[in-house]
Amino acid sequence: MSEFNALVPAAGFGARMGNELPKQYLPIAGQPMIWYALNTLCSNSQIKTVFVVLAPEDSQFQQYDWSACGDKLQPLFCGGDTRAESVANGLLVSELEPDEWVLVHDAARPCLTQAHLNKMIDELHDDTVGGILAVPVADTLKRSDAMQRIECTEPREKLWQAQTPQMFRAGLLALALQQAVQSGKSVTDEASAVEAMGLQPKLVEGDSSNFKVTYPQDIRLAELLLQEGK
Ligand code: CTP
Ligand code: MG
Repeated sequence: MSEFNALVPAAGFGARMGNELPKQYLPIAGQPMIWYALNTLCSNSQIKTVFVVLAPEDSQFQQYDWSACGDKLQPLFCGGDTRAESVANGLLVSELEPDEWVLVHDAARPCLTQAHLNKMIDELHDDTVGGILAVPVADTLKRSDAMQRIECTEPREKLWQAQTPQMFRAGLLALALQQAVQSGKSVTDEASAVEAMGLQPKLVEGDSSNFKVTYPQDIRLAELLLQEGK
């Protein structure tokens, strides 16, 4: 039985949030945002180690109490300039075996649940490629022209919104990200790096509660959902 691990990139600044404190540390219902995802990952009995990739100059992380996470939590101060570089660096430093599974999860998705995690592991643990949590697109999609007028309506059939966790074997993911970083192409998630190798990750259906906190108005919604789940 292969091992499952998690890796949480948390070396961003949260530019779209527009706050001086990096968004992963903004307080939500009494804890820094990142605490929720780390706590959920560390509480899952199938997950062995939870790596968190921090900026080398991070001075926040050590100021909080991580005792609720137990001894699974392993901070790595090796974040890079992009998310892909942060994850690639983290994989290198983690020294995971190539065939171990790693679930990469955004620090900015605090509403992840045990049900999401268990569904993913269930559906993917003997998959040859791996896959991601995702949600079928619900809204009608418009493509704009340069004047911000509607050029056309895009059919939403077969379109999904990618979320995290994104679950791959550590060796395959490290190789995919290394190639993506070297090619200079922008990859905003792990799956797109794996897709660039000609592979087809599986879509595991999640739900919109696992949204990414990006803008200031997202904080309140996350707070409501997390308080409800307590
Ligand atoms: N991330 C990272 N290293 C980077 C950039 C992002 O580890 N160089 C992490 C973020 O900390 C976050 C996750 O990747 O946990 C998802 O990124 P996003 O939500 O885009 O966060 P930021 O990049 O911090 O926000 P923004 O894009 O608004 O600047
Ligand atoms: Mg970003």
